[in-house]
Amino acid sequence: MKSYCNDDLADIHTPLLYDYWYVAGLATEFTRDLKERTILNRSIVMYRDEDGDVVILQNRCAHRSFPLSESKLEQGGIRCRYHGIKYDHDGNITDVPCQDKCPKTKIRKYITKEIGPVVWVWMGDDDKANEDDIPELPVHDMDKWTHVVGKYNYMEGSYILLHENLCDLSHLPFLHEDTFKFPKEYTSAPIKIEQDGDEVIFYRELGDWNLLKPFFHPGLDFGNKQVLYKSGGHYMTPATNKGYGLLFPLDENGNPEQPTGHYVSHYLTPESEDRCHYFWFIARNYALDDEEYSEKQGTMVQHGFDEDRDAIKYLQGIFDRDGHDYKEISIKADKPGIAMRRIIKNLVSK
Ligand code: FES
Ligand SMILES: [Fe+2]
Repeated sequence: MKSYCNDDLADIHTPLLYDYWYVAGLATEFTRDLKERTILNRSIVMYRDEDGDVVILQNRCAHRSFPLSESKLEQGGIRCRYHGIKYDHDGNITDVPCQDKCPKTKIRKYITKEIGPVVWVWMGDDDKANEDDIPELPVHDMDKWTHVVGKYNYMEGSYILLHENLCDLSHLPFLHEDTFKFPKEYTSAPIKIEQDGDEVIFYRELGDWNLLKPFFHPGLDFGNKQVLYKSGGHYMTPATNKGYGLLFPLDENGNPEQPTGHYVSHYLTPESEDRCHYFWFIARNYALDDEEYSEKQGTMVQHGFDEDRDAIKYLQGIFDRDGHDYKEISIKADKPGIAMRRIIKNLVSK
């Protein structure tokens, strides 16, 4: 295994972390059809029971490992399509067609929690699961954010590469040159960083929001007020990052008033060490009813995030194909990403 970074930073070879809440899927993906997804190297089957509650079970029949996602959802549970063993929604065997007695063996039912537009899953030891540890992101309280675009992207690269991309403000004017159209002033604004325990907060500020106008709704108007633009992110857990682009009008004493702008909630869920699922939502707290703008904004951001998806695929591809034993350099703007990688590496060795 070739190392390309310092040993104290997480990289694409770092083992996955099981004892965290991850998003398993969008709430809309859970239906009365069986759906397979692999999360942290475990194949799962996801669906809703007759009451509409979400269910996630191990996707492997206890008999000869036939995938339950390729089986049949019946009243009360799933019947394996290979030899007909039936499981209830808790993973208990309730019928074995060729014998009277059911083995006591269960298949694993994963602990889940549906909150707003996402479904969380706990893949670690059941007795360590605590719902209070589920991170709070803006879209969870749907009342506060009337506009939300939610999407899913499959990423052909490690979730560490995606986390580093989300902690990296320096790529915005380059990788997204034609999409987000950041002004050149953005490139040179210093990046500020604060570490709070195992979390990292980072941002850039620009004193003149007019430079960012194309990025906001054309109807936004703050009169003669000076408006501070703050763009940044917050690495919260191995499963989450919260991004934002906010405008703070300054009052006559130069103090910032309530912000107007966008939040992006990012959910990263490793499929394996070198692939991950990526769910994201944009929310804004102004021009709430302008659906045409919402559509335009959603399309623009989707396009930008597709550029990230391609970049991460290229990076993973280079690591997979190119045999250099080789240390990468770092630049000033990498500080948030490096802090995140150090945190994840420490969590793995705890
Ligand atoms: S493999 Fe499922 S019943 Fe045999
Ligand atoms: Fe990006």
